[in-house]
Amino acid sequence: MTQGSAIIIGVSGGVGRALAQQLGQAGDRVVHGLSRTPVAPIDGVTHGLLDLEDEAGMAAAAARIAEGPAPSLIVTATGVLHSGQTPERSWRELTAEHLMRDYRINAVGPALAARHFLPLLPRDQRAVFAALSARVGSISDNRLGGWHSYRASKAALNMILKTLSVELARTHPQAVVAGLHPGTVDTALSAPFQRGVKPEKLFSPAFSAASLLTVIEGLTPADSGGVFAWDGARIPA
Ligand SMILES: NC(=O)c1ccc[n+]([C@@H]2O[C@H](COP(=O)([O-])OP(=O)(O)OC[C@H]3O[C@@H](n4cnc5c(N)ncnc54)[C@H](OP(=O)(O)O)[C@@H]3O)[C@@H](O)[C@H]2O)c1
Repeated sequence: MTQGSAIIIGVSGGVGRALAQQLGQAGDRVVHGLSRTPVAPIDGVTHGLLDLEDEAGMAAAAARIAEGPAPSLIVTATGVLHSGQTPERSWRELTAEHLMRDYRINAVGPALAARHFLPLLPRDQRAVFAALSARVGSISDNRLGGWHSYRASKAALNMILKTLSVELARTHPQAVVAGLHPGTVDTALSAPFQRGVKPEKLFSPAFSAASLLTVIEGLTPADSGGVFAWDGARIPA
């Protein structure tokens, strides 16, 4: 029996691809994988192009998907940490360009994805809109300093998710909006920062994706607006 569709945005990334692979293998939903660059085919997944910085393209992708079954799951698995900009070690390294780049990709991108894809959610069935966030976006958990642009962009994302959850609850009582921390995962995003991470704390994308799908499965409307780690633990704001 199919449970509608699943939409994974960012399937060219480590965690996004693993999420799409596992949903495709499960075979109980129509799975749409989206990314700004082409990817090797994924079994059971229909691929389309989507750049978070191209809002017209995002609207077109949503309109195409709207012709099929309604989504029971939408995940933005996109994000940027370094890519040409080294995360700041001190406030002395702050630049407007770096701050704006991280904010654009990590906060504005998922916000616009919500704008264009939330209208596809069914009003009368359980559905989840999740965005990959990060533990370092927690304001109360910040003990180390540094990584200003990334931290601030993820904190902004978490606030956007909370705000979406409040509004969505009025029209979609069974919907859940959540941020997810995937753990430290062996992907291009974490590659320059893996030195010092104990091997057992460095997850494979497959392990992280399976853990996140279990967390997603267990979320209820009472959890909506929260941020949850790979093991289901709530991350404080
Ligand atoms: N890996 C970790 O240890 C870790 C820890 C905490 C949180 N996270 C979060 O988990 C998420 C997934 O990260 P990952 O580790 O899988 O990283 P990744 O392998 O580097 O994947 C990042 C993804 O974001 C996409 N992306 C970046 N800019 C985009 C844009 N403008 N439009 C569309 N897609 C765009 C990339 O697309 P391209 O391939 O086209 O660049 C890629 O698909 C991120 O939100 C990250 O912050 C990761």
